[in-house]
Amino acid sequence: SWRFFSQLRSSPDRSSFGIAFDIDGVILRGRVPIGGSPQALRRLYGDSGNLKIPFLFLTNGGGIPESRRASELSELLGVKILPSQVVQGHTPFKSLLKRFENELIVVTGKGEPALVMSEYGFKKVLSLDEYAAYFDNIDPVSQYKTWTTKQAFNHHSNSKDLFPRYNVFSDRVKATFVVSDPVDWGRDIQVLCDILRSGGGLPMQNNGQQPPLYFAADDLEYQAAFPAERLGMGAFRIALENIFNRIHHSALVYKSFGKPNSFVFKNAETVLRQIKASCHDDNGVGNEEMASLDFKTLYMIGDNPPVDIKGARQAGDPWFPILTRTGVFRGKENHAEFPADLVVDTVEEAVEYILSKEG
Ligand code: G3P
Ligand code: MG
Repeated sequence: SWRFFSQLRSSPDRSSFGIAFDIDGVILRGRVPIGGSPQALRRLYGDSGNLKIPFLFLTNGGGIPESRRASELSELLGVKILPSQVVQGHTPFKSLLKRFENELIVVTGKGEPALVMSEYGFKKVLSLDEYAAYFDNIDPVSQYKTWTTKQAFNHHSNSKDLFPRYNVFSDRVKATFVVSDPVDWGRDIQVLCDILRSGGGLPMQNNGQQPPLYFAADDLEYQAAFPAERLGMGAFRIALENIFNRIHHSALVYKSFGKPNSFVFKNAETVLRQIKASCHDDNGVGNEEMASLDFKTLYMIGDNPPVDIKGARQAGDPWFPILTRTGVFRGKENHAEFPADLVVDTVEEAVEYILSKEG
C-alpha cells in the first residue's frame, strides 16, 4: 500500500510530468530486472511502441558509453531505450571537454572507461591499466594477480610503442578521472597517489601541484546482485583520500559528480524536456501543444536515501522523490534523515501510483 508523506499536488495535465529511474536497486540487481521493472516501463509506451511518457534513467553507475548502455537496457527490459534516455554518473564529464580535450588524462574504473572518455571527445586518454604498464614494478604485488598479469605482460615487452601518441615520460598528466567503480583498489590507489603527488609528472617525483581528480559519483554503498549493500565509489574515494593525506603534505583536492548534486537533477530536467519534445513529434501532436515543455512534477524513483532522495529533495521544485524497498533502503516506514514524498515496495507500484494520480 502507498504511504503519503506530503500533500498531493493538484492534478496537472497529462503531459506535464516525467520520470527519472535509478537503475541499481530499482530497475536491476546486477543484470536481473527487479520490482516488475519491465512491466512498469512498458506502461510508458503507446500501442504503437512510441514513447508516451517522458522518462530517463538517472544512475550513478557507468563504465560503458551511453549508447551501449541503452542497447543493454533495451535487451534486458524489453523496451526501446534511446541513448539520450541514459544519464550515467560520468555523463557530465563531457562538460570538462573544453578544458582537457587535448591534454593527457588518466582514467580508471570497471568496463571501458577510456572508451567512454574518447567518445565524449577527449583526445589523449590513457586508462590507468595502460599508464601503469609503462612502469615496471609500479604495482609490487602484480605477479600475484593472475587476472591482470596477462594484459600487463603484453604491454611490458615494448610499452613505449604501444601508445605512440602519448609519451608519459614527457607529457604531464593534466587530470585523472574515476569513471566507474575501480576494479583493483590497491593498484589504483597506489598509481593515483603516484600521479597526484608528482603533479602529473613521473611517479618517482613527489612534488608538484596536484592535477584535478574527478569522481563520477560518491556513493558509499549501492545495491548490486549480492543481497547486502556493496561498497561503492564513495568508499574508494574515502580510502584514497585517507591514504593520500597521510603520505602527502597537502590534502587531496577532488570533485564528485553524480547524484545527489543538484546540477544532475537540473540537467535531467533539461534532458527530459528534450525527450518530451520528441514524444510530441512521434505522437503527431501539434506545435501549440508543445508550447510548454515545462513539467509540473518530475518523479525520481530511487532506492538510496542519501543519494536519490536527498538529491531530488535538494533540487526542489518540480522534483517528487519516491523511495522503493528493492535496494539499499529496506525500512518499514519512511527514511528518517532523507524522507521521500512516497515510499513503495517496488518500481511497479511507483509507476502505478504515478499513472493513476496523473490520470
Ligand atoms: O555503481 C553503481 C552505483 O553506484 C549506483 O547506481 O543506478 O543506483 O544510481 P544507481
Ligand atoms: Mg540505486
